[in-house]
Amino acid sequence: MKDYISANKDRFIGELVEWLKIPSISADSRHKNDVRSAAEFLKAKFEAAGADKVEICETKGHPVVYAEKIVGAEVPTILVYGHYDVQPADPIELWQSPPFEPVIRDGKIFARGSSDDKGQVYMHVKAFETMVKNKNLPCNVKFMVEGEEEVGSDNLGTFVRDNREKLKADIILISDTALISLEHPSITTGLRGLSYMEVEVTGPNRDLHSGVYGGAVANPINVLCKMIASLHDENGRVTIPGFYDKVATLTDAERKAINAAPFDIDAYKKELGIDEVLGEKGYTTLERTGIRPTLDVNGIWGGYTGEGAKTVLPSKAHAKISMRLVPNQVSTEITELFTKHFQSIAPKYVKVKVTAHHGGEPAVTPTDSKAFKAASKAFEKVWGKTPIPTRDGGSIPIVALFKKELGLDTVLMGFGLDSDAIHSPNEHYGVENFMRGIETIVAFHQEFAKV
Ligand code: BES
Ligand code: MN
Ligand code: MN
Repeated sequence: MKDYISANKDRFIGELVEWLKIPSISADSRHKNDVRSAAEFLKAKFEAAGADKVEICETKGHPVVYAEKIVGAEVPTILVYGHYDVQPADPIELWQSPPFEPVIRDGKIFARGSSDDKGQVYMHVKAFETMVKNKNLPCNVKFMVEGEEEVGSDNLGTFVRDNREKLKADIILISDTALISLEHPSITTGLRGLSYMEVEVTGPNRDLHSGVYGGAVANPINVLCKMIASLHDENGRVTIPGFYDKVATLTDAERKAINAAPFDIDAYKKELGIDEVLGEKGYTTLERTGIRPTLDVNGIWGGYTGEGAKTVLPSKAHAKISMRLVPNQVSTEITELFTKHFQSIAPKYVKVKVTAHHGGEPAVTPTDSKAFKAASKAFEKVWGKTPIPTRDGGSIPIVALFKKELGLDTVLMGFGLDSDAIHSPNEHYGVENFMRGIETIVAFHQEFAKV
């Protein structure tokens, strides 16, 4: 099957490039039709690859693409999840080539969605095609590829609950995470959860002249900055009461295992153009992103931000604030703790409104399961190395949802790299990652069939 994959390399990449040209930005209603076109493109590719049943399933939002091939009642079933929607491309002026006109430079495909997650979903489509065309599909396979991951998968819970029978499987397989590097393959064994908040601070009932009123009336931007600054203490810990109450403490052995992963702090700093890292005191960088909860401002605005200078004491200030969660924090509880706390620290001279956006639960996946062992073997076969288990900082809320609703564990077999610039300008995906990913997925199917 390796020969089939290499013989078809150019076609595989050419098809992915065509898919990447469709701007399936789920957050932007102007791209609603593009999101659907991306779903239809995928449907056609599943059909061509040999799926027996392919459907575009409507939801209240963007559709889910479902495909399956059932080869027998006696073999295990793998349910592959991924997403075909992408993040907005802006700031567009920072892209070296347009985000929806994919180009290959230095062995990497540059386009929005190339790594997160169209490129990674497409590996599964081509791995499936490879097995079907070579008459070597050893497991039943189902695909569920959604179009709302980047906006919080609001309709996915309902979809999963309404389609329990259809989604019946033995294991969930997801490629939507990163490897340590091409030299050090890894399998993600944990993801953080998320609570995403928006706050609005109101001072005077209208914008004021900052000379006439400045110094006499609270400036909501000044106040908001102070409130935000107070959310961390001098040790980099979040000050919201109760925030850490449910955080699982890891054993020394577990922490040691996390820190045993290859990680070059100097290369990390250099890549990001920073002289020093910053985070919660007492934890390493790998721990800070892998097993500790955090709070970050994602956006802050108010007053005058246009060209030149306008002297104004604004009426309102806003911020979007996200918290990354770890086991056993619960996103709805953290949302409530944040809301209460943020209200309570509001001084009398302003009014504060707090609203919650989407959230998601953290997840850890077993490392002693048959599926994990099959994944490990698949990496050994293709990469000649045993993959290192890692805890990733990003969130894929469906992992916890699959466990809760279907009772199923997930194998997080992602092939991206942290340096792929996902959600950023110049997102890219290595051709090598793509090709080896296809091979590893094929190998996983073969190994999983044996257990
Ligand atoms: N694929 C990412 C999550 C990810 C990236 C996990 C890298 C591990 C390593 C996913 O598409 C994503 O961006 N998720 C969002 C959360 C979602 C609820 C909007 C995130 O993590 O911000
Ligand atoms: Mn993703
Ligand atoms: Mn993403």
